[in-house]
Amino acid sequence: MSNQNQLLIRSSRILLPNDEFLVGDVLISSGKILSVGTELEAAEDHYILDGTGLTLLPGVIDPQVHFREPGLEHKEDLSTATRACAKGGVTSFLEMPNTRPSTTTQAALDDKLRRSAQKCLVNYGFFIGATANNLAELLTAQPACGIKIFMGSARGELLVGEEGVLDRIFAQGDRLIAVHAEDQARINARRREFAGNTDPAVHSEIQDEEAALNATKLALKLSQKYRRRLHILHLSTGVEAELLRQTKPSWVTAEVTPQHLLLNTSAYGQIGTLAQMNPPLRSPANNDILWQALLDGVIDFIATDHAPHTLEEKGKGYPHSPSGMPGVETSLPLMLTQAMEGRCTVGQVSRWMSAGPAQAYGIVNKGAIAPGWDADLVLVDLDTYRPVLLQELETKCGWSPFEGWNLTGWPVVTIVGGKVVYEKGKINKEVRGNALNFKALNHV
Ligand code: DOR
Repeated sequence: MSNQNQLLIRSSRILLPNDEFLVGDVLISSGKILSVGTELEAAEDHYILDGTGLTLLPGVIDPQVHFREPGLEHKEDLSTATRACAKGGVTSFLEMPNTRPSTTTQAALDDKLRRSAQKCLVNYGFFIGATANNLAELLTAQPACGIKIFMGSARGELLVGEEGVLDRIFAQGDRLIAVHAEDQARINARRREFAGNTDPAVHSEIQDEEAALNATKLALKLSQKYRRRLHILHLSTGVEAELLRQTKPSWVTAEVTPQHLLLNTSAYGQIGTLAQMNPPLRSPANNDILWQALLDGVIDFIATDHAPHTLEEKGKGYPHSPSGMPGVETSLPLMLTQAMEGRCTVGQVSRWMSAGPAQAYGIVNKGAIAPGWDADLVLVDLDTYRPVLLQELETKCGWSPFEGWNLTGWPVVTIVGGKVVYEKGKINKEVRGNALNFKALNHV
């Protein structure tokens, strides 16, 4: 009988921590990688996976997702979202606080952890959301990967744009602060200017590059004032990237989404409000500057900002349509396709999508294939190209901005904690992930 506690992945092309590849075997026992080598011995009861012709990578850690539970389950829930993760090779995620209720208290965080233990097929971690009035919770809530501040693009208590309030939050404590950097006052003023315009393309003009740059400058200023660990979420503009290139302190990190690298304002003409997100898509010139910044290490890693909305909601028409697009099922093949086209290497993709986020958030024992590390892994096929098909998606929203894109690097097998959660089109819904642990980290 096969024993899922002992797993042997045979004859795959293994990405090693030094960026080299080894064609060999990985032996897994009780959720950990036991050994990596050639011709490893399997006992009779080992579950054996044949990796011949496939490439083995550390599982993806997606450090920015919106999984909508509790309160917005008509868009997504922790079961559908983590099935999508399993299919996309995402073995851990960090989730944002804009659920209902928002995750601004220990009780709300505990509720998410309870739900996750029951429902999540992959490993999970959560941000605590900042309001103008929850400083005590921001200092003590556990386990949280960091504090999330919506400087713009949020409603209600989660919108914290005023400098005095931000200053108080930056001044206290030392845990990581992750910012959605958009200047809400500027957005509000421009909304009035563009009132009545229903072309979704004006979204990128209303929430323009200056709105993003203003907020990023303010976050950097406060981070420098207090030497406070800062992470800039979904960097979208070349001007922000160039600012970071000039002035990025060692304790600041930044991320970019696949959609800000690969889509631009021309997408509005093709997919309308499905291309609407915050911060918005920019011009093609911005795609190029963001790519270069990622290649040069000015941008540290990749997140999807998976933010599903129903087609009905998206169909309301601009400006009533909500911002956001799903991403966890397509991010790895999108980036690996770029690697196969020569834009970067497979090792870089893996660093940006696994080791990078693990290091920035102090996620221990994840993001590498080496003895003693957690067995969160993905076997991908870098030889076959297949299109993104809506009928194959697991996300509840049922659409993708990348529908029809012909991609390679699709996951064939995904492993979470040594258990096969996805294999050749089939999801094992019995597998459960674990709560992530975050090592206290002031400076990266
Ligand atoms: O477009 C977005 N939608 N950006 C965000 O940061 C949040 C999000 C959402 O929750 O829908």
